[in-house]
Amino acid sequence: MNIRISVRRFHPDSGEPPRWQEYEIPHAPRMTVLEALLHIYERLDPTLAFRFGCRFSKCGLCAVEVNGRPRMACFTEVRDRMRIGPLSRMPVVRDLVVDRAGFLESLRALELYLPDSQTPPSAPAVVRCPEAREKLLLCIECLGCNATCPETCPFDPGRAGPYVFVKLAQLHFDPRDGRDRRAQARKLGIERCLECRKCYCINGIDIQRHAIAVLAAAESVHPEQPCRS
Ligand code: SF4
Ligand code: SF4
Ligand code: FES
Repeated sequence: MNIRISVRRFHPDSGEPPRWQEYEIPHAPRMTVLEALLHIYERLDPTLAFRFGCRFSKCGLCAVEVNGRPRMACFTEVRDRMRIGPLSRMPVVRDLVVDRAGFLESLRALELYLPDSQTPPSAPAVVRCPEAREKLLLCIECLGCNATCPETCPFDPGRAGPYVFVKLAQLHFDPRDGRDRRAQARKLGIERCLECRKCYCINGIDIQRHAIAVLAAAESVHPEQPCRS
């Protein structure tokens, strides 16, 4: 059986506006969006640009929007008439590839690493969380959540999106991190998040409960159990 999917195409240097291009591909049971893109690239159109790494929901590089919602391409089954585009609120390098440089700048500008780390982000120490908060460690830095936040601006570390709150919460719970991550979150305007709650994680983290509520709480929430080393 064949299916048809539409992929958002855009080459900033071409002077042409973005457009949707439809492809017809053979479908197999449990075929993923990433496999569909690879089929297009290898058999139909080698000019299609997209990013991937692990193919197993571990590296975060394949995040795209499927029918307008962020998804991991390697972990989402492809269906007839799907529309696949780049993550919203991110500058597009080409087609489905977005520019992650602003996100790396935010890591540096907000010092989102442990203080004894070597030069970030090349050799960061691995963050640890207490067992009750280990869900926070599911973050694979795909930036899918940032595409769900109307406040995100990839060029402004002060509006770097919910990913930053997940990272701040991870560091808050790591006893090796001496910085006041809740104060940082307040400076970034986390109070407004308590009214908003629009963002969500595409890899299973409850951002509102495990990051935003913790960072915005009047009293500091301390680790309930020691971290695993
Ligand atoms: S919190 Fe979830 S959606 Fe956001 S970057 Fe991490 S894994 Fe991706
Ligand atoms: S709660 Fe709203 S403003 Fe805050 S990070 Fe999530 S989507 Fe953005
Ligand atoms: S290719 Fe690594 S998460 Fe999809």
